[in-house]
Amino acid sequence: MKKIVVAYSGGLDTSIIIHWLKKKYNAEIIAYTADLGQGEYLEPLKKKAIKTGASKIYIEDLREEFVKEYVFPSLKACALYENKYPLATALGRPLIAKRLLEIAKKEKADAVAHGCTGKGNDQVRFEATFAALNPDIEVIAPLREWELKSREEEIDYAIKHKIPVDITKKSPYSIDRNLWGISIECGALENPWKEPPEDAYQITQSPLKASNKPAYIEIYFEAGIPRKLNGKSIKSVNLIENLNQLGAQNGVGRIDMVENRLIGIKSREIYEAPAAVILHNAHNALEALVLDRETMHFKQIISQKYAEIIYYGLWHSSLKEALDEFVDKTQENVTGTIKIKLYKGNSTIVGRKSKFSLYSENLATYTSKDTFDHKSAKGFIDIWSLPLKIRALLEKNR
Ligand code: ARG
Repeated sequence: MKKIVVAYSGGLDTSIIIHWLKKKYNAEIIAYTADLGQGEYLEPLKKKAIKTGASKIYIEDLREEFVKEYVFPSLKACALYENKYPLATALGRPLIAKRLLEIAKKEKADAVAHGCTGKGNDQVRFEATFAALNPDIEVIAPLREWELKSREEEIDYAIKHKIPVDITKKSPYSIDRNLWGISIECGALENPWKEPPEDAYQITQSPLKASNKPAYIEIYFEAGIPRKLNGKSIKSVNLIENLNQLGAQNGVGRIDMVENRLIGIKSREIYEAPAAVILHNAHNALEALVLDRETMHFKQIISQKYAEIIYYGLWHSSLKEALDEFVDKTQENVTGTIKIKLYKGNSTIVGRKSKFSLYSENLATYTSKDTFDHKSAKGFIDIWSLPLKIRALLEKNR
């Protein structure tokens, strides 16, 4: 008999998958659920998976590994897909896929399966990770194979086969959530001209209703990694949870975009990522203080590439490894404190300091404390503009 390890969320799709795989392949099914901070109580999944037909379920808390090995490297790289999306969903996939393979090995399973749709990015991210880490494993993607075409047909299938599913939880949106952010699509959001209805947002307060008093916070970074909140050391997972809560209360972290999916479709998606928005802002502000101009500008090119690597599912590529070396080198001096004001949807940087600051008040000031040699600018400009002058003279004498 075949043995299959399936990525299981407890939702409609993956519940049906267990039944469908079992029947189609006459297989033993092992369910796997990772806690990446989706804010759901996962204990009930134990019974549910077994009732649905799995022989066993693994539930693991991967939040710390997720933050340290996936989220923070992306933060250090300033990775925002198409300059906006902090990549929460995309960062979770290679980790879940890696653990699926490890469990498949332990259980001596023949195949791994996932519940991603055939028109999305996540199937690519799962399967590219499988390919990179275990090129021999068999991969099954039931949603690309089965005949069920709609949610209604899936519900009918569940009723017919007595699969316990909670159809009362029906939401018009498709939602994927972890510590680093929430991805929301479908329903009214499919019309890109339509402003997202308030009920599409899961955690953030509307800026209109947020407090009239700003919240001030201070984040201390060490070599590019946030270590303290308001002067106190804090565990990475707690820091992100706290910032999500604080940001959400103040309406911070809403992102509305049309993005280019890897498989060629454009999609309208909204995100809620208060901690990610605050931390990216703060980290950028610190880099602006401590990185020299050329390194900073070059790193912006790297950031875009790094975000694409994550989005495209290429976490285990040699390019990613090489870029990590570059990014880590740039982070050596990214140590210091950033002061941020959270107010009605905005996270505004209002102060920065670092022992590695390249900012010199004596050079920048317009007061009598100025130490900059204004005369030296003349020679610089003459040489800087020399090619422009030569070209202009040539044009003139033609
Ligand atoms: N567009 C995002 C990405 O490709 C999120 C995908 C999942 N979205 C969802 N609402 N289930 O990373």
